[in-house]
Amino acid sequence: MPVVQGAAKARRFFDRIAPWYDRINARIYKRAWLERVRSEIRGARVLDVGVGTGFTTGHLADAVGIDLSMEMLRRARYRGALVRADFMRPPFRGADFDTIVFAGSFYYMRDPREAARVAAELLRPGGRVVLLSPATLLLAAFVRVLSPHDYQEIFASAGFGDVRYERLNWSACLVIAERP
Ligand SMILES: C[S@@+](CC[C@H](N)C(=O)[O-])C[C@H]1O[C@@H](n2cnc3c(N)ncnc32)[C@H](O)[C@@H]1O
Repeated sequence: MPVVQGAAKARRFFDRIAPWYDRINARIYKRAWLERVRSEIRGARVLDVGVGTGFTTGHLADAVGIDLSMEMLRRARYRGALVRADFMRPPFRGADFDTIVFAGSFYYMRDPREAARVAAELLRPGGRVVLLSPATLLLAAFVRVLSPHDYQEIFASAGFGDVRYERLNWSACLVIAERP
């Protein structure tokens, strides 16, 4: 089991590193990845899961950012709404998001199938998941690393149709899953 997984561990971990998060992220997270993620966002109603300090969707007026870590949210620069909650117990009703973004957060979910099922419930028909994750087994001791086949299987099990996997470089991948 990777070092940081599940809500309690993730919250403690990110509460602790929040003061340095943006500086660490600037070294890891490539500008080109950010642009790829943003280019795949569709519609105005965007839910950013594990929004952190607002790095990916902070510029969007109608986005909703959700995060477990109060320390990350306290540092967020965000035009939309911020909510402190566990994505696995979402405080929303109805399925109306156009896009759900997991930029560096899907792999912290204890049960990825259940996370995909929750995402399917929160998306409108025709909506999509856009996910940025690690893609190298070199990181598997720290975080869950899923294969293209794993993503296909996880999102198909939650009723998603088309699942597209794109390798961004040696360490990261982008996954787009469309809700029929
Ligand atoms: C690596 S950070 C990514 C932050 C931001 N998306 C970015 O791209 O910089 C992962 C974030 O996911 C949050 N997180 C992890 N599990 C979560 C869950 N079950 N529900 C909501 N947020 C979660 C953590 O608290 C942390 O802020």
